[in-house]
Amino acid sequence: MSFKELTDKRLLACASFVSGGGIVCDVGTDHAYLPCYLVKNGVCKRAVAADVNPSPLAAAKENIQRAGLEDKIDTVLSDGLDGISPNGVTDVVIAGMGGELIADILGRGKAFFSARFILQPMSKPERLRQWLWENGFEIACERACKEEIYYTVMLVKYTGENSAYTAAQCYIGALKGDSGDDKGYISKQAERLRKKGEGMKKSGSAQAQKYLQLAEKLDRYIKQG
Ligand SMILES: C[S@@+](CC[C@H](N)C(=O)[O-])C[C@H]1O[C@@H](n2cnc3c(N)ncnc32)[C@H](O)[C@@H]1O
Repeated sequence: MSFKELTDKRLLACASFVSGGGIVCDVGTDHAYLPCYLVKNGVCKRAVAADVNPSPLAAAKENIQRAGLEDKIDTVLSDGLDGISPNGVTDVVIAGMGGELIADILGRGKAFFSARFILQPMSKPERLRQWLWENGFEIACERACKEEIYYTVMLVKYTGENSAYTAAQCYIGALKGDSGDDKGYISKQAERLRKKGEGMKKSGSAQAQKYLQLAEKLDRYIKQG
């Protein structure tokens, strides 16, 4: 693949949030497509491609070599941010992992709290947003995109101030709901909640209404957007 022509909308959405001011650290890099794209296109001068597993890290190394970027992208075997130096890191990307794992990695990464975080949860995005608001982070910006399914990408900053939130906000985040992809993503979240609510209703659970009402709130948010 050509790194100049990265076509994956999910990774391109992550790239669009990178400031490019300094070193970009890609946690859970796997193939290292994102850091290769960022450096090759001059979005950042240097990057760190990190992964907890040796085999994806080997694939990352191979792709970095193939792109001729060994002198600009360091590879690090690391659980989250544990084995990485924070010196000069301005942007941390954590993409393609579950929301709870992302929260766990962030919680252990205090040395990086002055950086911008670009987060792309594959599951439980509501748990990640809740954790962020309860742990002094703000979601500065969020954008949905669609590849085969809908994804969301958040730009997150540590402020040290916790934020109040509603249950519906945990499912909407900072999405404005004004684009087709935002609407599609929120609509999928509503569908998920409605399915859960209806399943609970059938089994006589008292929690059913809570989920059905949340789904309605999300539908109303899209209509207003
Ligand atoms: C599905 S891939 C995502 C690859 C790439 N970030 C993307 O979004 O296309 C997830 C990667 O995260 C790595 N990973 C899982 N847990 C991790 C952790 N605690 N620290 C670093 N990497 C981790 C896995 O080894 C795997 O390569």
